[in-house]
Amino acid sequence: MGINIKGTAKKVAVLTGGGDSSAINDFIRTLVILLRKEDIEVAGVKNSYRGLIENEFTDLSIETVDNICGTGGTIIGTSRTNPYKIEGAVSKILKNIEDEKIDVLVCAGGNDTLTVASKLAMEGINVIGVPQTIDNDICGTDYSIGFHSAIKNIVSATTMMLSSNVSHEKEMLVEVMGRDSGFLTIRSALVLGADGALIPEFPADVDKICNLIARRRKKGRKYGLFVVSEGVKIKGGQLLQKDVDVFGNVKLGGITYSLAEMIDKRIGIKPRVNVLGYLQRGGVPSAYDCYLSTVFARGTADNVLDNKFGMMVGVKSERPKNVPISDAIGKLKLVDRKTYEFVNSLGDIW
Ligand code: F6P
Repeated sequence: MGINIKGTAKKVAVLTGGGDSSAINDFIRTLVILLRKEDIEVAGVKNSYRGLIENEFTDLSIETVDNICGTGGTIIGTSRTNPYKIEGAVSKILKNIEDEKIDVLVCAGGNDTLTVASKLAMEGINVIGVPQTIDNDICGTDYSIGFHSAIKNIVSATTMMLSSNVSHEKEMLVEVMGRDSGFLTIRSALVLGADGALIPEFPADVDKICNLIARRRKKGRKYGLFVVSEGVKIKGGQLLQKDVDVFGNVKLGGITYSLAEMIDKRIGIKPRVNVLGYLQRGGVPSAYDCYLSTVFARGTADNVLDNKFGMMVGVKSERPKNVPISDAIGKLKLVDRKTYEFVNSLGDIW
């Protein structure tokens, strides 16, 4: 794979890796339209790097992507596959890419997918990365595909439960995804007007939460809402699962049950716990996510036409912005202390 002359790509393959999210299909659709207009063939790799290893591709024509706007999931499938952990997989990938005459490989995914993309770039493949994860934890971009849709889902699901909280005078802990970054939690807590947000970046202060609940209840406000990150650090907190994925990520989810127990032990009030899980990643994408997906697609198509590889197409102030993939990986984008304190100060009013 060595394109040296501007605009000589004839075939582009696109894959979506890691956890899915809404608005990926909008990205695929716009990218296919932009490339097909330039007479560039587009292939979808089935189920991320697994399809690259097993030589599973699907043709992405204008007809295939017609009508996929605003649909959830990814039409080409995804998986958590790490070719660098499977013997012989990388040479299979290199051979398949050569046999299929693929000039450019577009990899849309989170940190793990982009890390593999960066390694493949070092093997000589013309790679373009695109940030796609509800976690929004990728450096070098304001947002990643899926983040805003996940916020929409969290806010809508939680709002539906709030009335019951009020009726029953209950405290509620809503656990959201995001792995080791608290962006989903912070943003949804703000939108929901939550009493507090607990995120992985700062250790949870259980006494402070108990104190707030007790003070608030004394003043007559007998229901409340805290948004809790699945990756929050709680002294003595227990994870429900022991699984580790092929990239070495521990499966999160459920630590909030420990938090509820701790609160109950301290002040005799047991909050309801709702672990939102995969509903955060599904369904109709938000309008803003669909819009941003077209921005990512424009940046990606421009890179194909300009032969700019080894880049991740980030978005800055709603415009595409190239960042070397190597600068986007290896570290996480995290919530800063000021934002964390600001969000929590809004609930600390009793
Ligand atoms: O990275 C996206 C994400 O949804 C995380 O927020 C979550 O911890 C993880 O994926 C869940 O992974 P899986 O889909 O493998 O259960």
